[in-house]
Amino acid sequence: MSETEVTPQVWDRLLAIRQGTACNCCGNWTAGERAALRLYAPLARRDLGPVAVGQIGQSLDGRVATVAGDARDVSGKDGLAHLHRMRALVDGVIIGIRTVLHDSPRLTVRLCEGRNPARIVIDPRGRLPEDAPVLRDDGSRRIVVQSVDRTWPAGITVIRLPSNDGQIDPGEIMTALRSDGLQNLLVEGGGLTIAGFLEAGLLSRLQVAISPLLIGAGPQGLTLQNPAEKLSDAIRPSMQTFLLGSDVVFDCGLVPEAMQATRPMHPATDSWKLEARR
Ligand SMILES: NC(=O)c1ccc[n+]([C@@H]2O[C@H](COP(=O)([O-])OP(=O)(O)OC[C@H]3O[C@@H](n4cnc5c(N)ncnc54)[C@H](OP(=O)(O)O)[C@@H]3O)[C@@H](O)[C@H]2O)c1
Repeated sequence: MSETEVTPQVWDRLLAIRQGTACNCCGNWTAGERAALRLYAPLARRDLGPVAVGQIGQSLDGRVATVAGDARDVSGKDGLAHLHRMRALVDGVIIGIRTVLHDSPRLTVRLCEGRNPARIVIDPRGRLPEDAPVLRDDGSRRIVVQSVDRTWPAGITVIRLPSNDGQIDPGEIMTALRSDGLQNLLVEGGGLTIAGFLEAGLLSRLQVAISPLLIGAGPQGLTLQNPAEKLSDAIRPSMQTFLLGSDVVFDCGLVPEAMQATRPMHPATDSWKLEARR
């Protein structure tokens, strides 16, 4: 497991990688800073093609909330800071409507420096309240994916897609977002939404952030529609682990090329402006 140290210098570098003005290798980094580059560079990089990452924060016993529905801050303080860093590095954050109705998240970047991502809510049946905090106009893009014929005030983009038995094809959602310019995407929850993208083979990585608490019962992080019957059929991703102060992040590569993005390297693009020194 790599102890991860997100110093101001390494965070500046990651923001520069996101802008395409720096590489993820050159510099005199400590071991903790190098771990931070391995963890975050795959989201920050734009030279390796589009990336979609699922991330879920859960307890030691795999729960995301209590039976009574208390879900606020299952993650510890460093797990929360991690989530905000992920938001700052991607182009858009996707959540399902049940998370909006339950948690009223803002999906903004508040615990680190960086810009707010586009916020995307999947709401096939038109249940999203107009005054939901996720729709607050702060200059970021706000996108609703829906199947119903519902109109929204100016400034909110609607992606209307057909549903089959209530399900919108996650591939169609991804294609629509990508053709709208959103390349690197974070699927932030809840479990149903992440599972939909995972089972459709659309996630390149899955991050499970584990916080050291035992809840005892309550909703679980991920439940797949098509679970493995035999352990030999279970998904066994390639994996790195990172100690982030209060929480441990399991960073799983779901496609063969996912781990390539963690390696130190200069991207092979003509437009690359290399900033080799810190
Ligand atoms: N710990 C964490 O990391 C974390 C993160 C986020 C949320 N949460 C918790 O997770 C819980 C909510 O998660 P959840 O899994 O129950 O629900 P969810 O994923 O937030 O929302 C699921 C709903 O979104 C819509 N949806 C998503 N993908 C769709 C698709 N491909 N096609 C059609 N509709 C789609 C459906 O809406 P309809 O129901 O209208 O059909 C579906 O029922 C809350 O307790 C929240 O606190 C935890």
